[in-house]
Amino acid sequence: MTKIVSIHSFRGGTGKSNITANLAAQIAMQHKKVGIVDTDFASPGIHVLFGLNAENMTHCTNEFLRGKISISEAAFNIGEHPSPQNGCKRLTGKDIWLLPASISRDDIQDILQFGYDVNELNRGLTEFRKEKALDYLFIDTHPGIQEETLLALAISDILLLIARPDQQDMQGTSVVADIAKDLDVPDIFLVVNKLSPKFDQDDARKDIITDLEKQFEIPVCNIFLLTHELVELGSADLFSLLDEEHRFSKEIKKLSQIILNT
Ligand SMILES: Nc1ncnc2c1ncn2[C@@H]1O[C@H](COP(=O)(O)OP(=O)(O)OP(=O)(O)O)[C@@H](O)[C@H]1O
Ligand SMILES: [Mg+2]
Repeated sequence: MTKIVSIHSFRGGTGKSNITANLAAQIAMQHKKVGIVDTDFASPGIHVLFGLNAENMTHCTNEFLRGKISISEAAFNIGEHPSPQNGCKRLTGKDIWLLPASISRDDIQDILQFGYDVNELNRGLTEFRKEKALDYLFIDTHPGIQEETLLALAISDILLLIARPDQQDMQGTSVVADIAKDLDVPDIFLVVNKLSPKFDQDDARKDIITDLEKQFEIPVCNIFLLTHELVELGSADLFSLLDEEHRFSKEIKKLSQIILNT
């Protein structure tokens, strides 16, 4: 049985794609079969972390949604064709697949104008999970609340809600948390990203966790610090495989253990 893990945030730019790519990579490193799907058809991005671009993205999920190819034909085999970047290269031979969303202007305009059939995507994902015998399927979502958010939440075993310590993020996150509870998502966790290193003392962290858990009534499973090395890398590689001893990488590994144990 495939465990489905959705990574979502109410607002954009919270770090979903970076956390999803690193988390999925860490779980693949533990010899699990991993799939990742980019459902952010309006502003795709996670493919960049795996070294895909307009030239080497041979197929995409949009073609499947248009009925042109099967879902498996849309999947990119990262373990067989890892990007030459030092972090990504370490995925050589691992069982990790990406269903990328198209970065062509026409495809994005098409999705914005006509939308897509979420039930067809759901059917495709079910087929993909079975065909690749996936242990985990990670869904990197479009921020906010749309029809496809509801689908992603409804089929998830685990939801990671990513929020920055920012009032705008937090208000919206509470709305998403309530929807996820209504949809009976079995395990919902809050992940705080981009905490200022200024608040990185045990007492301050404890206070943040206590306040958030009281406010949202869901567990806070990780706090990631605002990390200048990540800003400098600019999504060009998988940081947790580049610098394993860094605090961010250790926090990603801790998150991967939580997922593996849930
Ligand atoms: N802990 C962090 N410290 C510093 N920068 C970070 C951290 N996490 C993510 N970033 C940076 O923030 C930016 C946004 O990250 P990312 O693209 O992963 O967010 P996202 O939630 O997927 O965005 P979108 O909603 O647009 O899809 C990237 O430049 C990334 O490198
Ligand atoms: Mg993203």
